Amino acid sequence: MLFRVKLLGLIPPEIIEDVRIQTDIVGLVSEYVRLEKRGKNYTGNCPFHQERDPSFSVSPEKQIFYCFGCQTGGNAIKFLMLAESLTFVESVRRLADRAGIYIPDVESGADNKRAAREEKAWKANAQARDFYHDYLLNSPEASGAREYLKGRGLSEEIIKSFKIGYAPASWDSLAVYMRGLGYSPGELIDYGLLTGDSSRSFDRFRKRIVFPVTNPQGRVVAFGGRVFGPAENQPKYLNTPETQFFNKSRILFGLEQARKAIKEAGYAVIMEGYMDVVTAHQFDVRNALASMGTSLTADQGKLLLRYSRDVYIAYDADSAGIKAASRGLDILQQIGCRLKVISMPKGTDPDEFLREKGLDGWHRAVAGARSLLEYKLDVALSSKKDVSDIIEEVLPNLAEMKSSIEFEDGVKTVASRLSLSWEAVWGEIRRYKEHMPKIWAKPDKITKNTHNILKSGKPKDALSRAELGILKILVENPEKLSNIRSVLGDDFLQEPLCCEIYRVVSGHMDSGEYNPARLLDQLEEPAAGFLSRLLMEKNEGIQDPDRVVNDYINVIKKNRQARKRMILMQELATAEKNNDIDQVNMILKQLQEV
Ligand code: UTP
Ligand code: MN
Repeated sequence: MLFRVKLLGLIPPEIIEDVRIQTDIVGLVSEYVRLEKRGKNYTGNCPFHQERDPSFSVSPEKQIFYCFGCQTGGNAIKFLMLAESLTFVESVRRLADRAGIYIPDVESGADNKRAAREEKAWKANAQARDFYHDYLLNSPEASGAREYLKGRGLSEEIIKSFKIGYAPASWDSLAVYMRGLGYSPGELIDYGLLTGDSSRSFDRFRKRIVFPVTNPQGRVVAFGGRVFGPAENQPKYLNTPETQFFNKSRILFGLEQARKAIKEAGYAVIMEGYMDVVTAHQFDVRNALASMGTSLTADQGKLLLRYSRDVYIAYDADSAGIKAASRGLDILQQIGCRLKVISMPKGTDPDEFLREKGLDGWHRAVAGARSLLEYKLDVALSSKKDVSDIIEEVLPNLAEMKSSIEFEDGVKTVASRLSLSWEAVWGEIRRYKEHMPKIWAKPDKITKNTHNILKSGKPKDALSRAELGILKILVENPEKLSNIRSVLGDDFLQEPLCCEIYRVVSGHMDSGEYNPARLLDQLEEPAAGFLSRLLMEKNEGIQDPDRVVNDYINVIKKNRQARKRMILMQELATAEKNNDIDQVNMILKQLQEV
């Protein structure tokens, strides 16, 4: 329990408790996973491994989650640790932040330092964002930028909701402001706000309209700045470079603002640019986000999958965008997204399209979106002659289709568009699949260290069944402890994992403070996952737990006797061989008792 002791030094246990009580696990998980209510629990697709059918459950009553697929489980703190790759302390701090609970600063360990540095970077970015935003709204210098944005149809309301800003022309406005807040030039360079080196640094963004980029939790991690006014030899957009606090491939612009609408609409729309997304929101298309000019990554796809499986692409057909994006689209499909491509007239991006055709036009375009497969077929058919070249383009997409209905539809489409027989298309897919690398063959690192008892699913023999069964009833019904203990004592379980759970659970029950969600903090893996499973698995068909407990007790008692008898028989044999008459008699007497 070294782990536990270490923690207590960092965050007082009553605060951890407070954080847990103030955090609703269903709300927290919903920010990552689309949940549906099933009976008492909520279920959805597990964010920790790839799956097609939901095997991830959340219990509002017990405040725990468990995935029957990858056997990951725990309480809200654990969930956030896994979802955001945080340490325990970092996770508690974030949840405390969410819940508005103040954690006094305590002497911190190394992992805490990382979190603290990240917090500081976010805070600095948020302060820079407020500076730019304020400047856009109020400064005389920004009046041209205000007019410009108005001319592009953006209301003050939408400018405020995205906190769009303006970076002044001077070389050091932000630097001066941030130094006044106590940041050193070195730090500001680290955050990407300044460029240069320690001897000479200046504002990265100058004379630009600034779009703050947030992570899904709303922390400002980067900026994109669009030139405003004449700008020779300058890129149209300047972005925060990758820093230790900003990894572009894990962020989608607008996700924070869009995530609720994505769940409601049941799909997300990926656009190319900052302006597209902001205009979309202005037009009440609130499920829009952008990839910020790069090809889509698997990390971005996984981020999206937490909210929706259906993803629409709205790229300018004329731009280099969609061609370059094609690889990204395949990656998204590979990890389980269902993709559709919205067609817009060549040379038009969603921003222009919406302003020209309005919301109705947009809805028509969405309704007419083609599947990725059809889209690729169309593109290939218009540019390639050879049927085998065309089919090669779409084979990866066919082979990756996740459901059989989708797959059959796909085969049909390809066959009819290319005037081939079903069998021919089938044959091509089979050949392709044989040579396809096994993408999902690697085991998830979470699953790797699961224990035998977890892996084996249902226990085979009556004894293991009884041990597991008793433990399962016990963790849900603490009042049964005294009965079980009076008959079997405390030392009746064989499986080490069961023993550990029993020890901790009964200890908590004895102290009168049994609370499964809290208990989970004290267990290491695989015990924590195992207890989550015991708590989450339905005790199906058990009408009379007392009788079932008694049945289990009898099985365990009988097994205990059988084992005892076997040991005695062995001892008897030894005693007889040694001609030890006294010993033989004593063992015989004991055998009779058993
Ligand atoms: P676009 O050139 O299509 O810009 O680039 P836009 O978003 O439509 O902006 P407006 O309408 O001209 O104002 C699309 C996206 O590609 C990235 C940005 O994320 C941009 O929003 N980009 C583009 C860059 O990162 N750098 C560039 O120099 C250009
Ligand atoms: Mn544009």
